[in-house]
Amino acid sequence: MSTATVEKPEAAADNGASHKITVTFRIRRFNPEVSAEASWQDFVIDIDPKERVLDALHQIKWEEDGTLTFRRSCAHGICGSDAMRINGRNRLACKTLIKDLNPAKPISIEAIKGLTVLKDLIVDMEPFFQAYRDVMPFLVTSGNEPTRERRQSAADRERFDDTTKCILCAACTSSCPVFWNDGQYFGPAAIVNAHRFIFDSRDEAGEQRLEILNDKDGVWRCRTTFNCTDACPRGIEVTKAIAEVKQALITRRF
Ligand code: SF4
Ligand code: F3S
Ligand code: FES
Repeated sequence: MSTATVEKPEAAADNGASHKITVTFRIRRFNPEVSAEASWQDFVIDIDPKERVLDALHQIKWEEDGTLTFRRSCAHGICGSDAMRINGRNRLACKTLIKDLNPAKPISIEAIKGLTVLKDLIVDMEPFFQAYRDVMPFLVTSGNEPTRERRQSAADRERFDDTTKCILCAACTSSCPVFWNDGQYFGPAAIVNAHRFIFDSRDEAGEQRLEILNDKDGVWRCRTTFNCTDACPRGIEVTKAIAEVKQALITRRF
């Protein structure tokens, strides 16, 4: 399990102290070594509301309770490791400003739903990544290795541009009520990553991926709820991509 590291960066010049306000962060804690039940814990800290939720989590971990456990890596919206449920909505902690969350009221933070919580804000991502692996998220070609790059027109590249932006944060899949209900559904993130290759003119395994998603736990389980699109921090039109995969399954044109 990777957890947030505890090294504290050098303190910045203290010129923002007067902008700090007192904010309550209500965090759902779970430690299976202490209790089988999760419980909420309030942390009241002084922080500049222009800071991000990730900064608040760091402050709490470094200054209040070193046992608080969460994932993060890049801290800049690239690695996808800090998706969590903030005020009831999936977001990246590193991309969410405290001032945008009505900090006059307690801000709730809990693990994303539909995946087993291992500790505090950390869930078991293995079922999520298994679904990703199942759709073969890599270019499949036949014949000899080309001696030059595989050419593609701008129009062909545009066809799957949106779904190349995925950072595998799981905000979409863990906001999907179908996934919550039985966890067997491939989930929107896997379909987005299948879309990225199905509609790539250089790829030769589109039919194979479509058949994988034609499964009882595949693309037809989607009920067009749009939670996934609302949750995606990369602004990917997830539900549209799923609809395009459904359409390709019907027409076999992609
Ligand atoms: Fe995250 Fe969006 Fe990719 Fe889903 S589609 S895993 S929400 S980046
Ligand atoms: Fe779920 Fe998104 Fe479909 S939330 S039901 S995968 S539109
Ligand atoms: Fe990498 Fe937030 S820490 S996306």
